[in-house]
Amino acid sequence: MTHPKLIGPITQLVALPDMPLKGALANDQLTIISQAGIVVKDGLIVAIGPYDTFNTEDYQLEVLTEDSVVIPGMIDAHTHLIWAGSRAGDYSLRTEGKSYQDILAAGGGIFDSVSKTQEATSEELRKNVLIRASRHLRDGITTIEVKTGYGLEVAKELELLKIIRQARAEAVADLVPTCLAAHVCPKRFAPEEFLAHLEAELLPKLLVSGLANRIDIFVEENAFPPAVARPYLAAAKKLGFDLTIHADQFTVGGSELAVEFGARSADHLEASQDREIALLASADVIPVALPGASLGLGMQFTPARKLLDAGASLAIATDWNPGSAPMGDLLVQAALLGAYEKLSAAELLAGVTYRAAAALGLADRGRLAVGERADFSAFPLTDFREIFYNQGKVKPEMVWKAGNKV
Ligand code: NIG
Ligand code: FE
Repeated sequence: MTHPKLIGPITQLVALPDMPLKGALANDQLTIISQAGIVVKDGLIVAIGPYDTFNTEDYQLEVLTEDSVVIPGMIDAHTHLIWAGSRAGDYSLRTEGKSYQDILAAGGGIFDSVSKTQEATSEELRKNVLIRASRHLRDGITTIEVKTGYGLEVAKELELLKIIRQARAEAVADLVPTCLAAHVCPKRFAPEEFLAHLEAELLPKLLVSGLANRIDIFVEENAFPPAVARPYLAAAKKLGFDLTIHADQFTVGGSELAVEFGARSADHLEASQDREIALLASADVIPVALPGASLGLGMQFTPARKLLDAGASLAIATDWNPGSAPMGDLLVQAALLGAYEKLSAAELLAGVTYRAAAALGLADRGRLAVGERADFSAFPLTDFREIFYNQGKVKPEMVWKAGNKV
């Protein structure tokens, strides 16, 4: 047991309690406490309020001497950050006009990262995850989902999950593992055969080992078309896995499956039309926009404004990966999505905090409220709107994980 610690005074604290999970949000819906204090104990928030309402003698003090805007620790609900090698070659081909889909069909793209990842040592992969996770932590991201998907073989996918488990024990940020063995179909299999193989050989091992309780699949015409993906999703659901889907990136179909199977989230959605938007709004599935993939591929953004106006939720994640989304900067990407899709600061903040927590099924973070995890960061600013106004250039100056400054 540690002594409670009072942190402050905080120029503006954006707490986000009691905000709706779905639908459009205006900035005046935000709870902003000026000159705030936040009390933490044993990794959790135990009190929040105006700084001068706390008796400073009752606490160990962490005094902030400069202006600060404090927000909940951000949550990146979609990354592929366990990979080795570079895809700068692909990127140049794309900027010269070749399509992502054509590169993949020719055996490059994801397959290229699969070869490079298969050749890498466990040590190198573990280090890569830790370096990327600590870069995210410095940017104020305290929870990071990490997908496999560049192992492709059952044994290699399990190995990647074991490396993520090792990295989890060492990283300061929380890492949430997801198995994306169904990323693309290895050449020696037909797609339905490969998914049947994963169902028989991989899912039972995952269940026993506890290496991941989330299953993802790339539902796409040249990866796993909806009809092919359905039995795999049904099997994973039956075994009790949480589901998430790479949906509607180039062609539609994935979001409908996400709704059908009650997935936690449907991610990408760049190609979603009014029908898919209405479906997502009618369900509890969290749509996840991945502006980094739109920027990396030079294609349209997820229809974030339409989703929110239709009454759907909206999380925003980086999709950090070597191919479509190499940047990995959540703040820059959220700010740009906001500028193009006309999103309020409240919608952007919700998208990278509590709505992203919901996409991962995590109920203990993403808001600053009593009982929540004491994960937050402080920007050297005086007004919360300046976070996105600076378009990601201004990063947090201080980050706290479980109540400790990192
Ligand atoms: O989310 N679309 C499928 N998978 C990743 C990209 C992976 C890659 O290009 O290496 C994505 O964009
Ligand atoms: Fe992805």
